[in-house]
Amino acid sequence: MARLPLLHSSVGVPYPANPRKEQRRVRKKSLPFARPDISQRERDAVDRVLRSGWLTSGPEVHAFEEEFARSVGADHAIAVNSATAGLHLGLQVLGIGKGDLVVLPSITFTATAEAVLYTGAKPAILDVGRSDYLLNAEVILKFIQDRCETREGKIFEKASGLRLKAIMPVHLGGRPCDLDAIQAIADKHDLHVVEDAAHAFPAKYKNRMIGNISDMTAFSFYATKNLATGEGGMITTNNEKAAGRLRRLRLHGIKGQTWGRKRWKYDVVEQGYKYNMTDLAAAMGRVQLARMNEMQERRMSIAARYREAFADIKGIQIVPDPDGSSQHLFTIEIGKEAPVSRDRFVEEMYARGIGTSLHFIPLYRHTFYKEMGYSPADFPASEEIYRRIVSLPLYSAMTDDDMEDVVFAVRETFAISR
Ligand SMILES: Cc1ncc(COP(=O)(O)O)c(C=O)c1O
Repeated sequence: MARLPLLHSSVGVPYPANPRKEQRRVRKKSLPFARPDISQRERDAVDRVLRSGWLTSGPEVHAFEEEFARSVGADHAIAVNSATAGLHLGLQVLGIGKGDLVVLPSITFTATAEAVLYTGAKPAILDVGRSDYLLNAEVILKFIQDRCETREGKIFEKASGLRLKAIMPVHLGGRPCDLDAIQAIADKHDLHVVEDAAHAFPAKYKNRMIGNISDMTAFSFYATKNLATGEGGMITTNNEKAAGRLRRLRLHGIKGQTWGRKRWKYDVVEQGYKYNMTDLAAAMGRVQLARMNEMQERRMSIAARYREAFADIKGIQIVPDPDGSSQHLFTIEIGKEAPVSRDRFVEEMYARGIGTSLHFIPLYRHTFYKEMGYSPADFPASEEIYRRIVSLPLYSAMTDDDMEDVVFAVRETFAISR
């Protein structure tokens, strides 16, 4: 392909003087939006399990739980097969169920609200902060003041009569919500806090690792996450009694563990779920955990390069990731001043062989939640965010060339005239 005429920007990134459609620089092989970072060590660990004869929950899961608990400073970590399962069990163990209401943000994956529905409770979907896209204390207090009433010290939503029982902050992109402010509301009104930390490993809030702060925290090890096991999750808590119940519920309500059981006897003491993690996933997770610092360093350096490369582009706002963020995503806003709309930007990136994604289509825009009576007009901040956001590829398996291709494609797209 013929090389484009290049100009050099103030940050040293070459970009075309006057690109036309036919002059796009297109990657030979498309860059996916995400790809797990799998080394020979993960392959060896999985192979060891395959040869061991014990594939399901066993010694690897046990070791992974201990190592993960240590890494976030939690007393207990319970491995499950997804964050969705972890959120479900966390809510159930805290006694949330039919007749209860749980507040959560509009900008999240459906799993957050779905976990609430599994318990029989209902989600109360709230708007988010315009600058960080997170659920915050101000929004929760407004909900309590405007739409709830207090009876005998308990809070009920006026319209539904449901009792407010819990708050689910979502650390979107790995940016920790203001947990002190949220916990203060929870303490005042006797509510539980269950953190959706699907994106937030490893992340810190005020120098404390996410995972040892509130009642329950659920992490995801889904294929695109900073620590990936294909499918998988972990729930952490400092509550010993709750931890025991979580262990039981994740495996059919059976008392005690299957691995290491000497005798044929077992006892089902309550209805549980098939939510356990396999040793194959855990073996992979243990290696990923051991490689976490190295992988995070790479992720952070790519994010720093993007920040520097896009700093001078009018029309791109970079969502600020505070210290402590896991930087799971690199999200930008395509502003009004941009020469392209967000949708056109996505198309132009795609045409150059660069995958992008959107985190997230707000819950109330999906048919299922619309049918619950939600309407975009009630979510002004989320609507503005949704119209503008796009997430760029950011993962430790990216090469320097991959990273520079993303930078080039963004700059080339922004050099397009309307
Ligand atoms: C914010 C959020 N919460 C929960 C989940 C569910 O995680 P899992 O796929 O491990 O169930 C996801 C998954 O991507 C997510 O992005």
